[in-house]
Amino acid sequence: MIVISTETASSRSSARSQYMEFAKLRSAARYNLATSGIESFPIRELPVRHEELEITGPSFYGYQPLQQRLAEHCNVAENCVAPAIGTSLANHLALAATTDPGDEILIEDPTYELITSTARFLGLAVRTFARRFEDGYRIDPDEVRRRLTPRTRLVVFCNLHNPSGVMEGEAAISAVGEICRQAGVRMMVDEVYLDAAFEQKPRSAFHIAPDVAIVTSSLTKAYGLSGLRCGWVVGLPEVIERVWRINDLFGAVPPHTAELLSVVAFDHLDRPRERARNILMRNRPALEGFLRSRDDLEVVAAPHGTTAFPRLTRGSGDELFSILQRDYEASIVPGRFFGDPRHFRIGIGGDPQMTAEGLRRLGLALDQLRK
Ligand SMILES: Cc1ncc(COP(=O)(O)O)c(C=O)c1O
Repeated sequence: MIVISTETASSRSSARSQYMEFAKLRSAARYNLATSGIESFPIRELPVRHEELEITGPSFYGYQPLQQRLAEHCNVAENCVAPAIGTSLANHLALAATTDPGDEILIEDPTYELITSTARFLGLAVRTFARRFEDGYRIDPDEVRRRLTPRTRLVVFCNLHNPSGVMEGEAAISAVGEICRQAGVRMMVDEVYLDAAFEQKPRSAFHIAPDVAIVTSSLTKAYGLSGLRCGWVVGLPEVIERVWRINDLFGAVPPHTAELLSVVAFDHLDRPRERARNILMRNRPALEGFLRSRDDLEVVAAPHGTTAFPRLTRGSGDELFSILQRDYEASIVPGRFFGDPRHFRIGIGGDPQMTAEGLRRLGLALDQLRK
């Protein structure tokens, strides 16, 4: 679905995110298939020494030990990365550092609603390019080219894609990078799910098109470390310089205790990574088997992700959600939050036993929806 409207937010003070309100207030369930990341990694599994923690520390334009870990993790120079409070603030900063009110961004559809809401909050006009179910949610670079206008400043997409979990390959990213280069615009890529594609080891868009790419990510989704809020923006030094300055207007400095814990997490990242791999190695085949067994669902396979976005042959994602909540103590995300009510998003980053039982209950709810 292409949204032609290029509206900007009419009122900044009334800004809100329907999706975030749903995620925070309505999605919790005993059998929770609504979350998109790996379930929380417990602090007791990291070698954290209480005496090494502190409340306040030398954090000005970065806390040097964390800055070094971020640069190493992203394989970039230290002046090409700035920390942020999660990918959430990273996205906000990246948008703010590369646009001015009235500019237009060209963003994939469907996408993660918060990016669009944030763009509107920043006074940007939002135009979309389609990622179609029929095309396996792959990016069509020609479509991106056709949808650019003289006002476009930024092309935006997520890799892996949320909601479908599809991984976009280097060829398409490089082609979009070239289109951006020719048009004199930048390309912002939210890579918060990319590290969940363990076996593939996909390269970051920054390494594919460093002159035009701005990349955002965090330790949230692929490692189950959401509470650290350890996010970052990667880009050319002049973009990162802007990010530091704009960040002064937000939190100014991050919570230092979280910075110290983030350093410990980076130094032992193999632990949450292995745990995530074990969870997904069990849940991915379980989901695949489940989807194969249903003739009332159509789906684009996403073997590397933590989510899938099936289409119902009858009924809506909202109806399915109501049945799951009412009768099965389970939840998914209705597709309405991604602009397509016939779909629902399912997440497989949770405990394998819980996920297996959640899938069984989802099957029962789907049977009920069919009646
Ligand atoms: C595409 C995308 N970007 C960013 C976020 C937020 O990430 P973080 O927890 O790092 O702020 C989410 C959360 O669902 C997401 O799906």
